[in-house]
Parts: sequence; C-alpha cells; structure tokens
Amino acid sequence: MEKKITIAIDGHSSTGKSTVAKRLAKELGYVYVDTGAMYRAVTLYMMRKVFVSKDNFNKEAILRHLPFVDLEFKLNEETGNADMYMEGENVENEIRYMEVSEQVSRVSAIPEVRKKLVEEQQEMGKEKGVVMDGRDIGTVVFPDAELKIFMTASTEKRAQRRYDELKERGEDVSYEEVEKNVKKRDYLDSTREDSPLVKAEDAIEFDNSNMDLEEQFDKILKIVKDKIQEV
Ligand code: DC
Repeated sequence: MEKKITIAIDGHSSTGKSTVAKRLAKELGYVYVDTGAMYRAVTLYMMRKVFVSKDNFNKEAILRHLPFVDLEFKLNEETGNADMYMEGENVENEIRYMEVSEQVSRVSAIPEVRKKLVEEQQEMGKEKGVVMDGRDIGTVVFPDAELKIFMTASTEKRAQRRYDELKERGEDVSYEEVEKNVKKRDYLDSTREDSPLVKAEDAIEFDNSNMDLEEQFDKILKIVKDKIQEV
C-alpha cells in the first residue's frame, strides 16, 4: 500500500488553494481540512456573541468567549465536501460573506485564537493522509509535512476570482470593494506578529495566474505522485 503523507498548501487569499486541495483529497482518498473556514467560523462566532465589527473589537471579550467556540466539519452528502458547523448550525455559506472577510484578519491575528485552532488542526492531521490549506500549515501546523506547496497568483486574478465567486452566490459587492479587501488581507496576513504568511523554505512555489483549473490540478497531482513515490 502507498504511504500516506501530509500535504500543506499555503498562500494568499483567493489563490485557488481550496479548490485544488479539495479535489486532490478526493483523488487520493485523503481528508481535506480548510483551516480558513475555522478562522472564519471563530470570527462569525465573535461577531454574534461580542459584536465584533469595524467599530468594535474587544479582545478581552473575545478571549472570554474563545473556550466555548464549538466547531465541527461534517460531510455534506450532496456535495461530497465537508461543511463547517458552529454550535450545530451549518455556517458554510455565512462564513464566506464579505462582512466576515472584513473582520477575519483581526481575529486570526490573536495568538490565543491561533493556538486553539492550530492544536485542533494538528489533531485532525495526526494520522497523515491529509491535505490542509491555510497560511501557516507548512511553517507552524505541520513543519514536517512531506509536501508543501505555496500558491501564488497576481492580485488582479485573485480579486477577480473572489468577485466572481461572491457574485455567483448572489452577494451585492463591487469589484473595487473585493480588490480592496484582498489587498488589505494580504497586508494583514503577511505582517501580523504571530505566524505571518511566509513561504516555508522547503515549499514549492506554484504560480497559477495563467493556468486553468485542469492544468493546475494535473501539475499538482504529478508533484504529489512523485513525492509519494519518493518517501
Ligand atoms: O483561506 P481564507 O481566505 O478563507 O482564510 C480566511 C482568513 O483566515 C485569512 O484572511 C487569514 C486567516 N487564516 C489564517 O490566519 N491562518 C490559516 N491557516 C488560515 C486562514
């Protein structure tokens, strides 16, 4: 039997990490973990419980509520993907709203939030056979992952992808607003003190600005298969 490995996929927002990671996990029979969904769900929880918003960010209150955040991924039989549940409620759609995207960088910069989620992620991936995507998977969560991919794409391509996604879901947003949010998150995610987004030294950089999904997937699957042969 083939050896199971840990695959860490990191990169800026809207680089298409999750689309590739999800498909890869299905192809290999691996577990897929969307760590961005976990940070988004904690953010949504804090928006509801302590009214985190553009004008209200009470770190003390966030820390008081943090131990009670109850998150779980559950399989969606229809899509075959795992949906994010918070206190038993399916929040898979809501965590992707612009309102949440606007607050998530601040909430995910809190060290205690990161510590809690990193521990949960390490637990989920301890058996290997996992594809995990995020910002710090290859650097912090699984520094010993056998394969690390760092996805990049131009800001314009990424903003366009996120805009198309939000429009498809019926959200009323402008391209300019989305591009502004993508740039702001890039900045905040890369400059925060705790676990900033950086390419792990041993990660393979993968720029998909000019690739369609099929091409990306074929190339990454080849990298993965070569790695599985090698370990
Ligand atoms: O991948 P995403 O855009 O859904 O992630 C949402 C936010 O969560 C992102 O702006 C930064 C944060 N995040 C993080 O800090 N660490 C991770 N491993 C994943 C996401």
